[in-house]
Amino acid sequence: MSTPPRIRALVTLGPTYEALDAIRFIGNRSSGRMGLQIAKALQQAGCEVRVLAGVCQPDGLDSLPHVERFRTAEQLRDLLTAHWPAHDVLVMAAAVADWRAKAPEQGKYRRGSGEWMLALEPVPEILGSLQSRRDQFIIGFALEPQEELLDSARRKLQRKRADCIVANPLETMDSSSICGSLLWTDGRVQQPAGAQSKVDFAHWLTAQVLPAVRTRCGDTK
Ligand code: CTP
Repeated sequence: MSTPPRIRALVTLGPTYEALDAIRFIGNRSSGRMGLQIAKALQQAGCEVRVLAGVCQPDGLDSLPHVERFRTAEQLRDLLTAHWPAHDVLVMAAAVADWRAKAPEQGKYRRGSGEWMLALEPVPEILGSLQSRRDQFIIGFALEPQEELLDSARRKLQRKRADCIVANPLETMDSSSICGSLLWTDGRVQQPAGAQSKVDFAHWLTAQVLPAVRTRCGDTK
């Protein structure tokens, strides 16, 4: 008897870096820990998991079998373009740097050169411009100031064409716990009781989304 196909999950995590010159960059403080715990929880729930990771080394990343690295948003976009068609669910936990240099310096920009006037341009949207099929399911992330958490996350959910979005207060970034909310396109908002460890939140999130992912795949997995 053949085993039924497993849900194939693609998880992005960690920061993107954008070069200013040969040695300096714009980045952010994302540790990749939340994304890693979600990847592990999905694996424990029986999914086949592939991880796309930025420049970060959260504990346990080495234990996952399929990890590919990106540095820039463009590299992340190229990896997603290559891998997303073969997956059922995308967890877009990567913290994409919002700005990049219009014209990065070649070589090292020297202090003796005087003032350094940097012209920055926005990094193009990745998630909202991704080509997806009707049987694929997308989970986005939104890192927001507490006072505008749900309103802003709701707008991002629409703009990024995700099926649900995890809204996190800014404090999540340096913390081992998370006080996240899960927003759905039908207006539902789910929250686990109080702050949780990232491990517990990852298992809670997995339990909330996998039934919807299975339905989207036509209940074949
Ligand atoms: N994201 C993306 N492409 C970008 C920026 C973000 O795909 N250029 C994704 C992130 O991986 C995340 C979601 O969009 O899943 C929300 O990211 P966030 O940084 O919270 O939002 P931004 O789109 O950057 O909006 P803002 O700067 O207004 O907060």
